[in-house]
Amino acid sequence: MNVLVVYFSQSGNTEKIAKAIWEEASQANAADLKKLEAVGAGDLAGYDFIFIGSPLHSANLAVPVKEFLTTIQPGSGQKMAGFITHFAPAYPNQDMEKFAEPIKAASEANGIEYKGCFDCQGALTESLHEAVQKKLNLNDAQWADMVKQMTGHPNEEDMANAKACAREVLG
Ligand SMILES: Cc1cc2nc3c(=O)[nH]c(=O)nc-3n(C[C@H](O)[C@H](O)[C@H](O)COP(=O)(O)O)c2cc1C
Repeated sequence: MNVLVVYFSQSGNTEKIAKAIWEEASQANAADLKKLEAVGAGDLAGYDFIFIGSPLHSANLAVPVKEFLTTIQPGSGQKMAGFITHFAPAYPNQDMEKFAEPIKAASEANGIEYKGCFDCQGALTESLHEAVQKKLNLNDAQWADMVKQMTGHPNEEDMANAKACAREVLG
């Protein structure tokens, strides 16, 4: 199979997961790893499986990822799966399904089989800590707990989980 792992990442977390998925996909396939910015609509033809990765931004896929999904056309791969990183420790399944919905919708609208979405924690970039602590209305002790929980993610376990998930959907 020809596999494309395409991702948007500002602080490197989603990129780490993209690399793990690409490493896994490369075991038994011809796999390309590309930043979203480097992929045009015409570059998707010829791939059998596309993994698309995004950080969670304000409970949504990042805007460039949403824009990219609008360029998906029939024939842009036969199967598609997503991966998302977020600083929150975990979201209920139904929230994750809602966040990944644009990936599912783009797949279904173009006759592409949707294979689900992996997600894991990815530490929030330092420069946003103060603003997010305020927004979430957490006191310093609560925020310290939150920071402790997210620090180091995605970690080795997250990457191993991403690989296992990729292995499963690639079949
Ligand atoms: C503008 C912005 C909004 C964010 N909104 C959320 C959010 O709603 N929920 C969440 O859990 N994480 C949120 N995050 C945290 C990122 O999703 C998380 O740190 C992610 O791993 C960053 O990925 P990246 O390093 O690939 O850019 C937000 C980050 C930014 C920069």
